[in-house]
Amino acid sequence: MASIETHHSPTAAARIAAAAAAVEQVHYQRFTAFQRWVHFLIMCSFTVLVFTGMPLRYSDQGWAKWEMSHLGGIQTAGIVHRFAAMIMVSCVFCMLGFFARILVKTRGRYWGPGTMVPTRKDWHDLVAMVRWFLGKGRPVLEHDRYSYWEKFEFWAASGGVTIMCVTGAMLWYPQLTTRFLPGIFLNFALVNHSGGALLAMGFVFVFWHVFHAHLRPEVFPMDKTMFDGGLPVDEYARERPLEYERRVREGSLHEVLVPVHSPSRQRVENVIWWAITIVALLVWAAFTLFVIWVASFWLGSL
Ligand code: HEM
Repeated sequence: MASIETHHSPTAAARIAAAAAAVEQVHYQRFTAFQRWVHFLIMCSFTVLVFTGMPLRYSDQGWAKWEMSHLGGIQTAGIVHRFAAMIMVSCVFCMLGFFARILVKTRGRYWGPGTMVPTRKDWHDLVAMVRWFLGKGRPVLEHDRYSYWEKFEFWAASGGVTIMCVTGAMLWYPQLTTRFLPGIFLNFALVNHSGGALLAMGFVFVFWHVFHAHLRPEVFPMDKTMFDGGLPVDEYARERPLEYERRVREGSLHEVLVPVHSPSRQRVENVIWWAITIVALLVWAAFTLFVIWVASFWLGSL
């Protein structure tokens, strides 16, 4: 936080300095430990699901055979895929529980400025951004707790993960599925699962998520908030002015302020964070190469 220059009396200056020091001792908690763990587990399970699922889809290709031989064969890949799938399904149930809890606490009134529910303002923000992309003036957007792109990504990912879980479960238990549905639904499930995997990995992850969460000028190159949960209060006030002002107005700012982690804990966190970042970058590079390969594969087969 920037140092404070004042022209006040020594006592007032001391009070202001003490207040500034107190502010430096707290962070705005954007994500709880629960949310960060769910994000981490989805991130890991998604990566494993892509690495074990794609060689099944392209099993006749040289790279898929090479990968399979290193993964311990097609059967082992299938087992690992199912194990990672169980982690992803558990995360879905955790999130359902999370929202059920919020709905009970708010007596079903989960909407409004600080929630994940899209609002009219999100629509206006989106239109302003599209106009900017078309060269019609740069908008100055002020965000509440969640921006329109974060909400869009959350609901798009939730829908996508639900489809992957339902179709994956149908493929996992074909006999059970065909006790209730005609056999052709297994074909639908396979087409959707296979296509959904490409869409999730090639478009949502490689482009969309990386662009919004890492390449935006405000967060480039990496945003640590999803790993340590918090950010300095002044940054929070700058990035989420509407939420900050609302909380100040309503007197609920203290609800999201948490003590800053000790320096030794921060050092450990930094090492873990860098390790995760490097692995994630390598995964992203591998996925990007794969997307380029898929594009040239499709173009070649035209
Ligand atoms: C978003 C995460 C996921 C991705 C990227 C993914 C990817 C894939 C891909 C590419 C295939 C091969 C499809 C083909 O042969 O054309 C596959 C197969 C399969 N997936 Fe997934 N999948 C995901 C999630 C899940 C989930 C959540 C489940 C279970 C609930 C699941 C269960 C299966 C099963 C049972 C198969 C067939 C495996 C086999 O033949 O051994 N998948 N997956």
